[in-house]
Amino acid sequence: MPSFISQELIERVSNHFDIVEIISQYTPLKKAGRNYKALCPFHEEKTPSFVVSPEKQLFHCFGCGVGGNLFTFLMKWEKITFPEAVKMVAEKVGISIPILDTENKKGVRSQEFYHTNELVARLFQEILEKDRAIQDYLRKRGFTQEVIREFGLGYAPPSGDFLKLAHQKEISLKNLKQSNLVVTSQGKEGWYAWFRSRLIFPIFNAEERICGFAGRVLDNSLPKYVNSSQSLIFDKGKILYGLNFSKEAIRKKEEMILVEGYTDVIALHQAGIENVVASMGTSLTPSQAGLIKRYSDRVFIAYDQDKAGIAATLRSFDLLMNADLQMDIINMPQGMDPEELVRKEGIDSFLERKKRAISYFDYRLDMAISDRSSLARREKGDIVAILFSILEKTKLERRQEMIRKLSQRLDLDEESLRAELSKLRGKERGFFSRREFLEIEDKQMSTEKALLQLMLNEKAIIKIVKESECIDNFIDSSHRKIAEEIIASLEEGEISSSRLINRLGEEKFSSLISSFSLSEELSQKEDKEQVAIDFINYLQKNKKRRRFSEVRKKIKESEEEEGEKIDKWLYETIELNQFRKSKS
Ligand code: UTP
Ligand code: MN
Repeated sequence: MPSFISQELIERVSNHFDIVEIISQYTPLKKAGRNYKALCPFHEEKTPSFVVSPEKQLFHCFGCGVGGNLFTFLMKWEKITFPEAVKMVAEKVGISIPILDTENKKGVRSQEFYHTNELVARLFQEILEKDRAIQDYLRKRGFTQEVIREFGLGYAPPSGDFLKLAHQKEISLKNLKQSNLVVTSQGKEGWYAWFRSRLIFPIFNAEERICGFAGRVLDNSLPKYVNSSQSLIFDKGKILYGLNFSKEAIRKKEEMILVEGYTDVIALHQAGIENVVASMGTSLTPSQAGLIKRYSDRVFIAYDQDKAGIAATLRSFDLLMNADLQMDIINMPQGMDPEELVRKEGIDSFLERKKRAISYFDYRLDMAISDRSSLARREKGDIVAILFSILEKTKLERRQEMIRKLSQRLDLDEESLRAELSKLRGKERGFFSRREFLEIEDKQMSTEKALLQLMLNEKAIIKIVKESECIDNFIDSSHRKIAEEIIASLEEGEISSSRLINRLGEEKFSSLISSFSLSEELSQKEDKEQVAIDFINYLQKNKKRRRFSEVRKKIKESEEEEGEKIDKWLYETIELNQFRKSKS
């Protein structure tokens, strides 16, 4: 929880709005009984499973599982943090939030930077509109007037012209300097423009402000691109080019296409593919990887194949691997980037390739094996090590298939690979993956959930749970945390799910709480207290059962260990015996 917004202030902001009113500005809501229903704005669906409860001030989508209170909604929709969401609502209802002084000052200063950039961007645009040569260049490359305007493309004139025009527009030298749009040259007097005689791509941040520029030469001279240097508002490694244009489409499609260059984003956009962002160069930074994960769980990578930096690129893709991210590689023709492919072969060719994209795992496997007809054992070992690190971060259900593939491609025994992997993942994990255990675990999870649901609906049940001291029997750490928080709020009088969400702050709790609060199943049940007691007993019994398997496993392990020792002694005695015999 951010320290600069107090719980009290959050409460005050919460009391000033109605979730129905605000969410209906984003998606049309229809009354259905006590609640409202809608098509979920977070995923594509035909029948509405998105529920908003005015009573509880919560929303939940029973299709894709997102849910929470209004702050959660704004966080998900606007991709902002919790304090930013609180600030946003506070502004809507006219409550001022005291923000740390330094943050405020930085905010004011960055406004000045953005303002300068926006004035300069307009200047570049005006010049482009009058310049025949640059218009010709863009036409030859197939960019339409419309897309040129949408992406705010411009032209930076030679230095002298730029300084003169900026002066005419009353853009101060001081502001140009602090935004690094003019610089001094070493040993020379005076100032000159950073971008000279270049096609300009304004770079927008996710909030749609221009934070920097890139300028491309129109011939083959080098460097091909010049970018804004780092400033208060610009850090190339923390930005994905095009995100401002693509976030809507990414949200709808639930997937993102990652390309390298500015022109790739623009060309795909022009061809109707809008969920595209560019990393602006070969390697992806950890910040960019974080940004990608924030917007999408599925990424298609469309990079030029024969770049020198392919190894660096691969390493940077490893950053993207995590449990919930699916990554596929689009096979591009040698030496072509998406822009060139679309221009030469049309968008269908790109889409066809996207359809045939292969998983990152397969891609790495191909790369590792390619142009080596026979592999030495050690090399195989290296490949296995790399691919295991990917496997580990992959969802369970896809893992089996990957192991099979790995064993076929490397000609290694499937069983031993599997054993190797579970050894890596620790003894305990091996135990947890047994099927019978999974079944018990399933029931355990649903019981934990159901009990939480009852707690959120009935105060009396919170008391029962508290007195039974059964929280230690919860396996799921999020469930346990929520249960603890509910019990802690018992003293506060009425229990409110929305308040609970604010207090827990993190998104993973929000959707759990909203689903418990808004699902109907248990609220119909007659004797809720008895049901709760049954659940509590089940959790208790299950804990015993888990302990039982653990102990049994320990016994088995020590038997094996001892068994090995006995074997060793046995061999030793045989040896000794032979020795004894030969001596005599
Ligand atoms: P490319 O050389 O592939 O350029 O660099 P491009 O985007 O395809 O441009 P066009 O189509 O030839 O006009 C890919 C990306 O790498 C970054 C830029 O973000 C570029 O879009 N880059 C490249 C630089 O930052 N500086 C450079 O000198 C070159
Ligand atoms: Mn290109």
